[in-house]
Amino acid sequence: MDTLAPTQLDREALASRYRANRRRTAGLYALIAPDAYEDAPLPLRHPFVFYDGHIPGFAFITLVRDALKRPSVDPELERLFNRGIDPRDATVAAQHKRAAWPERATVRAFADACDAAIFDAYATAQLDDPANPNLVRGEAAYTIIEHEDMHDETLTYIIHRLAREKQRGLRFEHRDVTPPRRDPIAIPAGRATLGVRPDAIPFSWDNERGEHVVEVGAFGVDAHDVTNGDYLAFVRDGGPVPPNWFERDGAWMLRAMLEDLPLPLSWPVWCSQEQAAAFADWSGARLMTEAEYHRAAFGTPNGEERAHPWGEDTPDPQRHGNFGWRRFDPEPTGSSPQGASAWGVHDLIGNGWEWTATPFAPFEGFHPMASYPQYSADFFDGMHYVMKGAAPVTSSELIRRSLRNWFYYDYPYMDATFRRAYD
Ligand code: AVJ
Ligand code: FE
Repeated sequence: MDTLAPTQLDREALASRYRANRRRTAGLYALIAPDAYEDAPLPLRHPFVFYDGHIPGFAFITLVRDALKRPSVDPELERLFNRGIDPRDATVAAQHKRAAWPERATVRAFADACDAAIFDAYATAQLDDPANPNLVRGEAAYTIIEHEDMHDETLTYIIHRLAREKQRGLRFEHRDVTPPRRDPIAIPAGRATLGVRPDAIPFSWDNERGEHVVEVGAFGVDAHDVTNGDYLAFVRDGGPVPPNWFERDGAWMLRAMLEDLPLPLSWPVWCSQEQAAAFADWSGARLMTEAEYHRAAFGTPNGEERAHPWGEDTPDPQRHGNFGWRRFDPEPTGSSPQGASAWGVHDLIGNGWEWTATPFAPFEGFHPMASYPQYSADFFDGMHYVMKGAAPVTSSELIRRSLRNWFYYDYPYMDATFRRAYD
């Protein structure tokens, strides 16, 4: 085999992932009443119209225009839809507000033109070109797919906050049970491998790259995420109220994705990193570090490390956890015992991202990725914290040991939970 030849990318597999993502995005827009197209339910995020143009526009810009150097479809709309925002607060967000957005039909036509150019590129272009930094190992061809995976999660948590009468869609079944109780699990001192060698897997984002081993001291960790029921005691003691909770007739309720529910006490609490850290502190514990998450999730008593908490099998939402878009909301903690780690720690992948105590920062040797240099580098500010794992609406294809996610410590809208760790 000629080792200098570019890897043979599977064009059809890439095109079909892109197509499946476009369909899922269209399905999410079907949850929004037409007259809400320009609504922005979250003051810190753009209106729906932005994401409708941004997702295909970014894909076109990244793969077709900037990597393959093919001509623009519409320079003005490309500029408008190129990048989103992550403003520090509502005042900064207000400065990004636009007086007018293009008509929906205009955005639709732009998206269709972008998609057509992308399918043509997937079918015919040289997607892997060692001489073109944006195309090394097919980087741009994967970047655009995982970018849409992530934005479908963004769209979901924005639709979650849309006025009820403007939401469309089916109701789901929900279960609430007596949550499992277990003593904290002792994880002995050992090694954790963070990061990944970029040539070891088909695609990685820049912030994951650079495999390195970290020595982690012994610690204790809860087998289960902190539940709404656990957190309720903190609220009754004056703790901050999680973003999706509200009171009705003296009872605590949960604003679930498409309906209001009596607070399901056995579901993991979804809250900000700041609230998670405050709860842990109040209860005499702390949050896991990123390296401790790796030990709890991928470590084993014999010292070997696994690809996933459950072992080497490909992530399967039916067996391993609440991820992969089988529902929008959490399930009771401990509902996926087959996904538990070697130590018996549950739900490390799925049912909500796991907040860590680790500020988002570059690994040694970090280089901004060629196809999207601002992807991570703009967020190394000490105010964003690493999240690991997956939420119900995290696509199965994003589940890999090295993936890192991040948000501001006080960002309230993430489908993120936490568990307690102990010295
Ligand atoms: C990696 C999920 C934090 O949504 O802000 C999308 C992903 N970056 N478009 C985000 C992203 C640019 C990013 N996160
Ligand atoms: Fe984006």
